[in-house]
Formats: sequence, structure tokens, C-alpha cells
Amino acid sequence: MLSLTDKIFIQQCTAPDCGAEFDLDARLFVCSRCGGLLDIERREKIDSAPLRELWQQRRASFDPRDRSGVWRFREFLPFTDDTEIVSLGEGNTPLYDAPRCADYCRLPQLKLKHQGCNPTGSFKDTGMTAGVTQARKLGARLVVCASTGNTAASLAAYAARADLLCAIIVPSGDVSHAKVAQALDYGARVFEVDGNFDSCMKLIRELAEDERVYLVNSINPFRIEGQKTVAFELAEQLDWQMPDHLVVPGGNLGNSSALGKGFRELFESGLIERQPRITVVQAEGAAPFAKYYSDYQQERFMKEENPQTLASAIKIGAPVSWPKAARAVEETGGGVITVTEQEIADAKAIIGRDGIGCEPASATTVAGIRKLKIDENESVVAVLTGHLLKDTDYVMKYHTQNLIAPDGQRLGGPFANVPIRTQSVKSVADLLR
Ligand code: F0G
Repeated sequence: MLSLTDKIFIQQCTAPDCGAEFDLDARLFVCSRCGGLLDIERREKIDSAPLRELWQQRRASFDPRDRSGVWRFREFLPFTDDTEIVSLGEGNTPLYDAPRCADYCRLPQLKLKHQGCNPTGSFKDTGMTAGVTQARKLGARLVVCASTGNTAASLAAYAARADLLCAIIVPSGDVSHAKVAQALDYGARVFEVDGNFDSCMKLIRELAEDERVYLVNSINPFRIEGQKTVAFELAEQLDWQMPDHLVVPGGNLGNSSALGKGFRELFESGLIERQPRITVVQAEGAAPFAKYYSDYQQERFMKEENPQTLASAIKIGAPVSWPKAARAVEETGGGVITVTEQEIADAKAIIGRDGIGCEPASATTVAGIRKLKIDENESVVAVLTGHLLKDTDYVMKYHTQNLIAPDGQRLGGPFANVPIRTQSVKSVADLLR
């Protein structure tokens, strides 16, 4: 059995002209020398030969670390064996075949990795278990995040498990009720700010200057470590044969960064033979990353001052992790595209018809795959990031044909499923005709 204490990790600045190194327990969110994004790097190569079998064996164990789809892969996580982990049994999410979505995208097959099946209903839990474990290890008293809702719900739950104070900052009126309700129920203090997600992010960075406060947005490299394990779990589910394409929504760009890191580490340690091409999909009205990669590639990254989309989870104009996401896209030969509000809404309804369902931001993936001209011989996995029940207001509006886009246009509902008012069962029986 491998021992976790054999691992040697450091925090390292990702800026190409800096590369400063820091101890794992340095309480940093960005490089203290140049302000660049931090990554956690392993200094020694790992012997990966026994790992596939070891990870498989852990599936039959009752150790909470083995039950978690994150901590099961702990040889790749920057914690020692004696770390007290904060876990809700995250990960272990299903990889579904989605035949109706495949048809819709004109492909013979399409698989959906449903991260909405995590304990708080979104992919954030895989990162939060690592982020909050580190917060507790550092002796933080208060954990904080800015959020479009899911990070907030997830942090609130993990903070409750760790018995830490939790404050979340959300853009007032721009977060689905379900997500705020979760955070309140888990006991977090919710601060609603006039402004958008990007202004919340600014506030949070000021707050994090206080030593007792620990910032758990995806700028936090420990969160990215947890989130990268989705690549490991997916590889295992596909018997270590990578798909040609992996498609993921892009908001603050932590998830695409994490997946890119996960696939790179698997590849470098010889656990997979090739990496999937990572395509990031953004909503047309909140697409600074896609603009950066447009035909007129900009010299520098420009934030979007007034991002707009009904997919509120990804209504973000100044994504902090864009350089890491750019690395993931470039290293894997992937791309970045946009989809319209109508395309998101329709793709979401089709995902529902497969009996899977997701929240609007997640549906950008299937909408994007339909747009990409993917060869029918190529394999594709889309990552669904949040559960259908995260935003039922949107769902009801779509199915009753009352969904109004940010530009005031009423969206069509070609797949709308309007509820039928009735006083008799005749109309039910009519379904059989
Ligand atoms: N999908 C969902 C459901 C999300 O909640 C988010 C981000 C994304 C996609 C985009 O992921 O930011 O890593 O590129 N939600 C964050 C939040 C911003 O605060 O919950 P990303």
C-alpha cells in the first residue's frame, strides 16, 4: 500500500516568467511575488503501476476516504495520511449514455458525466471537500466565497460539516432561489450585494487579507486539486480509454482548469495514453473567454463589463482562472465556443428527455456539441455541472413558454411540455390513442 506521507507537493506560481515556489501550508490564493495563479505540483514522479488496481479495490472498502470519489484518488492529492478530511461522500457520479441527446447532436453516441449528482447537487463538492479540509488544517475560523450560487451551497454544506463559520457573497437577485435556500439551510450567512458576480469577487479578495479568513473560490488551488479527480473517475469509468472530446461549460473557468490538470497528470504518469480535447462552452452574452479565442484573437484578455445570460451560474464577465483554462484548451488541442440562449434552453429540454436533466449552465455542453462539427467516429463526453432542481423557475418558464431572454425576447419552446388543466381523466386516456 502506498503511503500518503511519501508525497511531496508544493504550491507554484503558474506565470511563465515567475514560477515562484511556496510551502503547502502558506496561506496564499495568488502568488505573493507577482499575483499570478497558483498550482499545486508534485516534486517527485509517482509509481503509477499499482494505482488502477488499488483505486478499484477501494470501491469495496468502508473507509470514508475510500467511499469518496475524490479521496479514493488521494495519491494525487496534496494531503498526508493523517489529515482529517471533511467529506460528504462526494464524487462517484454516473456516466450516462444519452441517446436522445446524441440524436439531437447528430452523433451515434454521447455520454454525459453528471456532476449534478454530488451531495449538494453540483460539481463544486469535489473541490470543496479539499478546499475546506485545507481551511481546517490551516486553522481558519471563517470560510468565504463569492458565488453565482453553487459554490455558495457547496461551501455552506462543507463548512457546516467542519464546524467553521461561513459567509457567502452573492449578486442580489441573480442567484436561483434553490441555491440560496441551500446555503441558508446549511447555516451560512448570506450577503447579497448590488452588482454582479465580478463585483462580489472583488469584495471577497479584500476580505481574504484577514489571516483568519480563508477564501474558497476556485482561485484556491486546493479546490482545483479536488476537482481534478473528476478526470480520474471518468478515466476509470471508461476503462482508461479517453474520449476524443470532453466538453465543459465555462464561467469562472476553474472547472476547465481542473479537468485539464487532471488529464495532464494522468497522461504524465502513464495512466492514460492520450488526453481528450477540451472544449469550453460559454453563453453568448457572457463569453469573454470565447472572445479571446475568436477569429480576431485579442492581444490580451478583455473582461466583459456587463455579462448577460439566463444561465445565471455562468453569468461571469471577468473569470479569474482564464490563464489556466487557456493552458488546458491549448495543451489538448481543444477550443472555446459560444451558444445562444435559445440553444441552451432547447438542449436543456433534450437532456431532460433522456431522463437525466440538468441546470441551464450545464446544457451549454450539449448545445455546443450540436454546433461543433464532430465526426461521427469520434467519441464525446459532456460534463453536466448542476442538477435539474437547482433552477426550477427556468424549467417552468421554458415549458410554459414564458422564458424571456436578457434582451427582452421571448424564447421559443420547441420542446416545451405545457401542463394540461383538466377536470376529467379523458385527456389522460387520450394519450394512448
Ligand atoms: N456550471 C455550473 C452549474 C456552475 O455553477 C458553474 C460555476 C459553472 C458551470 C462554471 O464553472 O466557473 O468553473 O467555469 N459556478 C460558480 C459558482 C461560479 O459560484 O457557483 P467554472
